[in-house]
Amino acid sequence: MKPLEVVGWDGDAVVYLDQRLLPHDVRYERARTVEEMEDAIVSLAVRGAPCIGVFGGYAVALLRDTIADDAAFLRAAERVRAARPTAVNLAWAVDRVLAAGDMLAEAHAIAHEQVRIDAAIADHGLDLIVKNARIITHCNTGPLATAGGGTALGVIIAAQRSGKNPRVFVDETRPLLQGSRLSYLELQHAGVDVVLQTDSAAAIAMERQGIDLAIVGADRIARNGDTANKVGTYGLAILAAHHGIPFYVAAPRSTFDFSLARGNEIPIEERAAREITEFAGKRVAPEGAAAYNPAFDVTPAHLVTAFITEFGILRPPYGESISDLEFREVLRLSR
Ligand code: MRU
Repeated sequence: MKPLEVVGWDGDAVVYLDQRLLPHDVRYERARTVEEMEDAIVSLAVRGAPCIGVFGGYAVALLRDTIADDAAFLRAAERVRAARPTAVNLAWAVDRVLAAGDMLAEAHAIAHEQVRIDAAIADHGLDLIVKNARIITHCNTGPLATAGGGTALGVIIAAQRSGKNPRVFVDETRPLLQGSRLSYLELQHAGVDVVLQTDSAAAIAMERQGIDLAIVGADRIARNGDTANKVGTYGLAILAAHHGIPFYVAAPRSTFDFSLARGNEIPIEERAAREITEFAGKRVAPEGAAAYNPAFDVTPAHLVTAFITEFGILRPPYGESISDLEFREVLRLSR
């Protein structure tokens, strides 16, 4: 099967695959107004940190074409920028397009770069995967999440293609099931040996299934290496440390927020209670149940064995290696 196109540009709209409908339906939508763009991001029809960056870049380029008044355009761009607060790639891409002379060309550049960045991440990450590795992962970090080849899943898929024969334990990823709906689908299509498990099975999987390593993506990484990613990642990292299992984070440079010293400064998106008080539209908690539903958590840097970036593997002390990465900004991968 051909990989699905995730975000695209058709001349007068941002086209996107509605990921809420996967794995059952493949349906494309077109966003032209700021309301449609904001809704696509907030509803997670388009999701994954780099992917919403690519979408946000095209969205702002289109808004510039469709909103003549400068102040109104900037307000609309800000709505797109703020649609999801944790993944820094969205604000990064919007700011980059806003600063460009030719906004559409910049949006295309961001999209094309992501493909090359993901390929470089997969290349570097491959060295960390032993033959027949048993790997645990959380949420979705494949092509659907980046509009390229994927970050953490990109590494796993590269390992499969190079004959390393990984076996992957995918957390279902409550409450929106990005693991079972999206990661399973992508790994299955790539021919990877994949098994689904509940998030709470991670501990026993590490104890009984001979897990060799954990690899996840990220939504925002502070200067000290503290890492925000899908809720449940922090727990997984603690479990990995307890079992002596390496815990890798694969992420592009655009996911590092060099303006933040540590993870407690990362804004954490809290989502609607009904995402956990209901399941498939049916209430599964007493009426009026209160719920705490953070979409992300922050894994402290000391639990991260290494970061896999397009510029190579970053190891502790992260103060130094992440500061080197900031300096690497000058080395653009495309054009
Ligand atoms: O809420 P989501 O589905 O957008 O969350 C996605 C994740 O947490 C991913 O792990 C992260 O964005 C990295 S994607 C390469």
